[in-house]
Amino acid sequence: MASSRGEFSSRFGFIMAAAGSAVGLGNIWGFPTQAASNGGAAFLLVYLILAFCLAYPALMAELIIGRHAHANAVNALRTISPGALSRRIGTGVGVVGFIVASLILSFYAIVAGWMIAFCISSLLQLVGWGGGAEWLVSFGMERNVIFMLLFMALTVGIISEGVHQGIERWSSRLMPVLLVTLVLLVVYVLTLDGATDGLKAYLLPDFSQVLSPKLIISALGSAFFSLSLGVGTMLIYGSYVSDKENLPSLGGMVTLVDISIAVLAGFLVLPAMYVALHNGVEIFNEAGNLISEDTLIFTVLPALFDTMGIAGIVVSVLFFFLMSIAALTSSISMLEVPVAYTIEEHGLSRKKAVFIIGGLIALCSVVILANFSTLFGLVIAVTTRYSQPLLGFMFCVYAGWVWHRDNLLAELRKGNPDVEQGLFWKIWPWYVRVVCPLIILGIFVQSLFG
Ligand code: TRP
Repeated sequence: MASSRGEFSSRFGFIMAAAGSAVGLGNIWGFPTQAASNGGAAFLLVYLILAFCLAYPALMAELIIGRHAHANAVNALRTISPGALSRRIGTGVGVVGFIVASLILSFYAIVAGWMIAFCISSLLQLVGWGGGAEWLVSFGMERNVIFMLLFMALTVGIISEGVHQGIERWSSRLMPVLLVTLVLLVVYVLTLDGATDGLKAYLLPDFSQVLSPKLIISALGSAFFSLSLGVGTMLIYGSYVSDKENLPSLGGMVTLVDISIAVLAGFLVLPAMYVALHNGVEIFNEAGNLISEDTLIFTVLPALFDTMGIAGIVVSVLFFFLMSIAALTSSISMLEVPVAYTIEEHGLSRKKAVFIIGGLIALCSVVILANFSTLFGLVIAVTTRYSQPLLGFMFCVYAGWVWHRDNLLAELRKGNPDVEQGLFWKIWPWYVRVVCPLIILGIFVQSLFG
């Protein structure tokens, strides 16, 4: 079966695809706002430590299992299981993973649709069609459904073209565009009055917050969501990596790109907030905390762009374009999880699988939209707060306990014959066995009762 599967054609292609998956709304929107409200550089520090000491090892677990099996998560966990029970549990983990990936996509597509709508709205403003622009930024069922469908259509279009022609080609095109847009925006915003206050809020650490459980939980959640862990996304991307590649270094690059983009986005979003403050826009809520999350992106930033005249409209187009691209390179990685499973386990053609699953996920999104106030937050909490850490825990357990150590070593040796002498082999195996599961479990318990 392996020969008929797709494969990334180069290191660059894989890094763009995996970093494209990792870099998404989580980095450009979630990370900076969380940093802003959790002690600035102190949060950054905790985030960096967690990303390298916990998320990177968990990422490696998925990549290595995936590359070894060259198959979807269900099949891969079965392949590395020595007994009937572990095979059965592995199947369960894989199946739950692809359901969670589909659910994540069903809310992600809604938010991404808003990004596209805001981008087009600014374009309409530029050509002077105020009525259309207004409709696009007003919360309404029709707008929500239309733009969710548009975003899903883009995602389905890319995934239907396969690993090389679809995922790799589009990630390699879009990621550089994303980086250039982000840098342009950062440079521009830093020239505006008030930006330095934002830099201070971002870069001066408030160490009194570093050890607060709230901060550590947010940082861990961000790191896990940001690296797309726990649902088999990275496992399936790993399964398309050639046996010649050195996995620990590839995974390290992906982690590095992901973190760098998040940190860079901080240089855009925080200064932008303080520029907004400088221009008279409200950025603190009644309790004196920074406004963040959806209010920030859909009200504070547009209010800021409004104060900047024509330049503001152009910046707004660029900003929401950036968000849309970041979302697209992530959403394709979510859709690939159920699609790969359906192709490999049920023998459907790629086109058929993509259309059926894409259609079902769009239907889920419509159901969420129709019951927005009850379902939207619930689906996000169930998938990202509970399912992702628990599934991530299971992947670590499979890599650390279930899979035979000799086979694991043999897999790593493929692209890196001297791996046994290196630091990675000295630390990672026991780390993923003991440290990762314990920390994930600890934080999970905290989030249940905290
Ligand atoms: N990492 C992406 C972000 O930061 C989102 C993402 C892509 C994701 N694939 C995923 C999250 C799989 C969880 C699981 O926005």
